[in-house]
Amino acid sequence: MSSATPSQSSERCLESLKVANLSLILDRYMDTYNTFPKEKFYMNEDLYLYQGFWYRSGGLVLHGFISIGTVMAAQETFQANPYDIYLATLPKSGTTWLKALAFAIVNRTKYKTNSLSTHPLLISNPHDCLPFIEHEVLRTRPTYADLSDAHLFATHIPYPSLPKSIIDSGCRVVIYICRNPKGVLISWFHFINKLIEKSYGSLIIEEVFERFCKGMTPCGPYWDHVKSYYKASLEHPTRIMFLTYENMINDSENNVKRLAEFLGYPFTEEEKANGVLQEIVKLCSFENLSEVNKNGKTCGGVPKNAFFRQGKVGDWSNYLTDEMSNVIDQITLEKFNGFDITF
Ligand code: A3P
Repeated sequence: MSSATPSQSSERCLESLKVANLSLILDRYMDTYNTFPKEKFYMNEDLYLYQGFWYRSGGLVLHGFISIGTVMAAQETFQANPYDIYLATLPKSGTTWLKALAFAIVNRTKYKTNSLSTHPLLISNPHDCLPFIEHEVLRTRPTYADLSDAHLFATHIPYPSLPKSIIDSGCRVVIYICRNPKGVLISWFHFINKLIEKSYGSLIIEEVFERFCKGMTPCGPYWDHVKSYYKASLEHPTRIMFLTYENMINDSENNVKRLAEFLGYPFTEEEKANGVLQEIVKLCSFENLSEVNKNGKTCGGVPKNAFFRQGKVGDWSNYLTDEMSNVIDQITLEKFNGFDITF
């Protein structure tokens, strides 16, 4: 197993401790992004179109969210290393779950999954165990991943907009998890309503649906984001793994086994015999993580329980009319034409 040396980890940590705060970042890039096309988002915020994708303007209304300023800062400053591992997702596609699984797999000798009370995932939210590269510039404290055997990062940035150093470094691997667009939409609908300030009221499904179909969700259009990583996975099949949330739900054990192999941490025969794989699946299960994260907020200020709603496939049918469902099917058919992406 390859590992980041402690000095490399602490250097990067110290570097991130030096960072400016969010308003400085926004000031730095505001003049540039104010020239970009923009549309109204929610709560008096704008969404900006940058390199073909939509990003929030930032601000502190919805904390912990990717914003255009932090993406631009990551592009300018993030330094990748060849031993890094990146977990890429569109928000609401299973990011939290993937973070937990990758963290548990890579660190399973350091934190025994069966010594339950000491495992970081039993005391911390997965988002506090493993950072987003687009939050590196804002980070003021280390995460467990800084001490990890391999350096794990997550990102919502679409493949073509990743910091150049990630592409150039030939990083070890990128894992992408994609989810049925209707599942993403409904999960997003609930998430934003949970986070939105009460004074703004709540959003109705029709409104969220309409914007989603126009591609206007953070890091959207959904379809372009998914395609960007799908294409990259075809170009670099040994470095980029493309998973689907639905497949992970249907066959968690087999997918976790594949994930461990791809990450370079395959389960040994002894581990298989001792049920380590099953322990990891259980540790990272929706039931377990939602129980651990019932209270409190993440370091980014988001209620921990906002990341755990149902963890099921197909709940969209309780919210979308047949007409809405058909519209999304039609867009998906057109946008994914020629791509073997199924859910
Ligand atoms: P639902 O809102 O459909 O329940 P993200 O982590 O990208 O923000 O995605 C959140 C979605 O993943 C939510 O979907 C959440 O419930 C689900 N989720 C979180 N942890 C999970 C887990 N351990 N297993 C399965 N799904 C999980």
